Amino acid sequence: MALTPGLGGAFSWLGIIGLGLASIAGASNAEPADVVFRNGRIYALDDVSSVASALAVKGGIISALGADADTEPFIGVDTQVIDLHGRMLMPGLIDSHMHVLPGGLALLNCDMNYQPVDVNQLLSHIQGCIDGDGEKAKTDWLEVVNLDYPSLVTKSGEVNKRDLDKLQTERPIVIRSSDYHTVLVNSRALEISNITAATPDPPGGKIERLSGGQEPSGVLQDAGRDLVNPPPPTEAVRLEACRAALRLLRQAGITTFQEAVAGPDHHVLFSQLRGSDELTARAYFDFSIDPPESMEGVQALVSSTLAAIIRMQDTSIIGPKPTLKWQAIKGFLDGVITYPARTAAVVDPYWNPVNGSETSDKWAPDPSTMNQPYWSQEILNATLEGLFLAGIDAQLHVDGDLAVRYGLNAAQAFREKYPDRKGDFKLGLAHEELSHQDDWARFAELGVDPIMSFQWAQLSSFYIPSTFSSLGDYRKGNLQAHRRIEEAGRPIVYGSDWPIDPLDEFLALKVAVTRTGDPTNPNSPASFGPPYDGIFPGDPISRESALRAITINGARFLRAEAAIGSLEVGKMADLIVLERNYFEVPEEEIGRQRVLLTMVGGEVVFATDNAQSEFGVTPKFPNLSQTDGQLNRRAMGGFDRRDLSREGVAAVSILRRRGQCPHKHHV
Ligand SMILES: *[C@@H]1O[C@H](CO)[C@@H](O)[C@H](O)[C@H]1NC(C)=O
Ligand SMILES: *[C@@H]1O[C@H](CO)[C@@H](O)[C@H](O)[C@H]1NC(C)=O
Ligand SMILES: *[C@@H]1O[C@H](CO)[C@@H](O)[C@H](O)[C@H]1NC(C)=O
Ligand SMILES: *[C@@H]1O[C@H](CO)[C@@H](O)[C@H](O)[C@H]1NC(C)=O
Repeated sequence: MALTPGLGGAFSWLGIIGLGLASIAGASNAEPADVVFRNGRIYALDDVSSVASALAVKGGIISALGADADTEPFIGVDTQVIDLHGRMLMPGLIDSHMHVLPGGLALLNCDMNYQPVDVNQLLSHIQGCIDGDGEKAKTDWLEVVNLDYPSLVTKSGEVNKRDLDKLQTERPIVIRSSDYHTVLVNSRALEISNITAATPDPPGGKIERLSGGQEPSGVLQDAGRDLVNPPPPTEAVRLEACRAALRLLRQAGITTFQEAVAGPDHHVLFSQLRGSDELTARAYFDFSIDPPESMEGVQALVSSTLAAIIRMQDTSIIGPKPTLKWQAIKGFLDGVITYPARTAAVVDPYWNPVNGSETSDKWAPDPSTMNQPYWSQEILNATLEGLFLAGIDAQLHVDGDLAVRYGLNAAQAFREKYPDRKGDFKLGLAHEELSHQDDWARFAELGVDPIMSFQWAQLSSFYIPSTFSSLGDYRKGNLQAHRRIEEAGRPIVYGSDWPIDPLDEFLALKVAVTRTGDPTNPNSPASFGPPYDGIFPGDPISRESALRAITINGARFLRAEAAIGSLEVGKMADLIVLERNYFEVPEEEIGRQRVLLTMVGGEVVFATDNAQSEFGVTPKFPNLSQTDGQLNRRAMGGFDRRDLSREGVAAVSILRRRGQCPHKHHV
């Protein structure tokens, strides 16, 4: 049974409207446009890299593109004419790998943002979160995240439940340290969790006690953390999280996203937002599956996956209003290459220090470090075959070069068995932090898409010193091999992996183009200074390649290139206006960029205050809504960290990296 993924019948529909670039100039019976942008630098990112100065939008669709004079016939009495004053306009960003729901939930937490605080500052920020929530959250759990616990203890000595009990609330409170090893709870949280003087320390964990007795202090270490389990967020909270995420996406210029690990919950939540006309990005969901235990389970997995996807699929054609598409699965083939986790599957063994100490400068291959991929080759071949035949695409998490190879092998198996079905499936291999030189050309040969996170090609504590040592010098050029895969014929697709990393798309593009971070950006480890402010091994890609990865190449993976990803007559008016010209700023400034305006299907969904007056537009969502203010107050230093001091910024960059627990997988 074949599922019609993506556009379905949209091609013919678009054909009716599409005029084609060449035929615009002199179009005689032009219909008046709703909006005309003029006097801009408009980068179409079409096949011939057109640059225009004017663009007309009618009914959410691009109706003309060319010189200012070419759009003259499209200006009627009701047409809004926007003078871009020479600013850059480009297609809306397509982020092909992110985790919107967890990202949104993280935005709703009470966030200490890695700032060094004393106990009074801690309590005052938490009280602000409590007061902001008001009555509706009266007895709900409050989760506080990203606490710089060592600084707190240095400044205020031991902090325990007695301090937290001073907060004006009945709510149980759990505060998580940024290194994930410690949590601090109040008396109410201990009570609900049944942690008493009689509770023994769990294996691998510790319940700290008040001095001179057995009474729990409210500080729980390591496995002790697991004794406190706030209930999962309610549907109302999860919905609010999706709203917060969409708000951030609008501000970042993301008009299409692919949620890389999705299930029925996403369907429920995003359908509601679509129903209330709050969906401001085109959504693609990868349905998460686990490997069956044996070959016997493959057929059942394929059938149940197909049933779930058909149930949730939105079969409508792509139009101006965003849709919710389910057309691919997501599976994990391995973990991560970073030391000490090293759960990624690699072709050659990882290296270990010969004298057992991480500080040693002599490391050597250690065969005992090898992992097999989570899926056997046989089961992967068979599962993807079943899915591809059913019309379902796939995105696989592959971090190490052996996992990458398994993914490519499965594509090859399908190509060999069904040579006449060329182009019939989309397979995206996500991450490939380490890839093998023998496999670079296979992406192009097999038509497999590398979905890569450019920001990982900057130096950081993920690599320095031990991950580099544990891979050995000879493989350094195989890390984040964007250029190698592109040169071998397959364009790169970009995915941010937010919230594993901060959502900072132009920083990521800057990294792709220079293999360096940005010392002025708190989201970049380079802001922490040496040794992170140097150049990452491997070669950069061009500015245009990087921009295509986050626009048209993503659209192709999503089977939506006839409707989005470039600016062409007949395509959706998904576009952004930038503060500065990405193609013309000096390299070090590529990442210092602001999106001034975001339009989705002809609707302005975001504009900065200045852009509102400069362009005379009123975005669908006001900049300072109730929610914005609330989000802003919940995070120390403001929503998206925009109000942090210089010292505050430095604290984030140090602790953000250290806070990533190496024992955890990437999501
Ligand atoms: C705590 O103990 C009470 C009474 O013994 C029990 O009903 C409840 O389920 C326990 N709660 C947890 C989270 O273990
Ligand atoms: C291992 O070697 C490093 C120097 O290469 C030295 O600093 C460290 O003390 C040694 N550790 C052990 C356990 O011998
Ligand atoms: C999977 O496919 C590859 C490529 O065709 C093939 O070499 C390999 O033998 C297959 N593996 C299994 C276990 O079926
Ligand atoms: C949103 O509004 C606030 C308050 O007017 C202002 O400080 C902030 O700069 C605005 N943000 C943008 C992106 O325009």
